[in-house]
Amino acid sequence: MPTKQPFARRILIAFVLMTVLVSGVFSLSIVAVVHLIEEHLVSEELKRELSTVLHEDLKHGVSPRLDASTRFFASNLAQYAIPQQFAGLDEGFNEVVEGDQAFYVYVQEVNNQTYLLVQEQHEFEAREQALFNVVLAGFLLTVVVAWALGLVMARKVMAPLSRLAHQVRHRDQLHALAPPLAPDYPDDEVGQLAAAFDSTLGQVRQSLERERMFTSDVSHELRTPLMVIASSCELLAETCLEPRQREQIARIGRASEEMRELVQTFLQLARGSANQSAPVAQYSLACAATEQAERWGAMIRDKGLDFQYIEAAADNGLYNPTFLSSVLANLLRNALHYTEHGFVRLILEKDGFRVEDSGTGIPVEQHEQIFQPFVRGTQARGEGLGLGLSLVKRICAKQGWHISVHNPPAGGTCFTVKFNQPTDEIFTSV
Ligand SMILES: Nc1ncnc2c1ncn2[C@@H]1O[C@H](COP(=O)(O)OP(=O)(O)OP(=O)(O)O)[C@@H](O)[C@H]1O
Ligand SMILES: [Mg+2]
Repeated sequence: MPTKQPFARRILIAFVLMTVLVSGVFSLSIVAVVHLIEEHLVSEELKRELSTVLHEDLKHGVSPRLDASTRFFASNLAQYAIPQQFAGLDEGFNEVVEGDQAFYVYVQEVNNQTYLLVQEQHEFEAREQALFNVVLAGFLLTVVVAWALGLVMARKVMAPLSRLAHQVRHRDQLHALAPPLAPDYPDDEVGQLAAAFDSTLGQVRQSLERERMFTSDVSHELRTPLMVIASSCELLAETCLEPRQREQIARIGRASEEMRELVQTFLQLARGSANQSAPVAQYSLACAATEQAERWGAMIRDKGLDFQYIEAAADNGLYNPTFLSSVLANLLRNALHYTEHGFVRLILEKDGFRVEDSGTGIPVEQHEQIFQPFVRGTQARGEGLGLGLSLVKRICAKQGWHISVHNPPAGGTCFTVKFNQPTDEIFTSV
């Protein structure tokens, strides 16, 4: 299972766990060895002394010759009767601790009689306890030192990684003049990471450069033929033409004008934030809307629909004409395209506008998807790629405008654009 602990903390935890394990095993081994030696040595000594008492002293009728801390007991000798506290012990070596008194007891059975040698070990026990305390203190100290060392080590190990992350976060890496990161690091794993980052960044820079070149090439290559088409149309319109031919020429002229505007819109969108500061001509909403109403109104009426251009309130703002016209044109084109009977309305308000129609409407569950690129609704018809509304959405996001769609109760569709309500949540439904 992937852990969510920071890398430095994981190093620290591993370091401390390792120390607890090694130091713990070491401390327990010391305790075990001390116990083993104690039992082995004392048991040998007591066994030898008991043998001397039984086979030499008692045999010759002398009382056991023992030092002050050692006493002899026997089950068959009244003067050496076994005290209650030592009764019932196993044969061999035993340790008896009672309160602050501690004894080694060696038990031997001979001819169904029990013989005991009891040695006071109070002092040894105290020393043993002191040793154990020292071992415990040593263990705890090792863990604390390991924690402190682990902390220092983890910081040292992570420092180059943190530095790399900081550099990646705070430098404008996409800037062509940003120096490569790899030379700052030794040729270890972090250095390799920095080199991998440099190389990926190089590829990103190259593709950005290619895209920039592409957009400027498109701008250059398309502008000239479009201008040629437009001026040729104007010249043709001045000659003697039949009304039908004149109408066709006018259509070609309109189409080339639309293409010129589209090229302009794409260029401005593609340039991103770098050219935002470049001065752009500013248009009022009324100006752009009147232009688009003239252009689309005629086509809408030609289709037999009622086109209404309503200035409900005045708006004083000034906006990028390319973007504003593009949004208006896309919404009006859709209204024309998806309405068979009834009306199309362009209503100007303070701080925005609405485009309403009495067409097929858009099912509420599709209100979100239709703004995605290459998504066409179930009501889609005729040719189209599903790009119009995604372009509108990108323009609104770039300009800080808010676009929403809802289905009016009477039917049809209503798109609303608000200029001063920038928000991420662009979809509302009724
Ligand atoms: N006014 C409208 N009335 C009904 N449906 C609409 C309206 N506007 C958009 N839609 C629906 O939203 C979908 C997406 O619209 P969008 O403009 O993005 O693409 P398109 O019109 O299908 O193709 P394109 O605009 O690329 O030529 C459309 O396919 C259509 O189903
Ligand atoms: Mg469309």
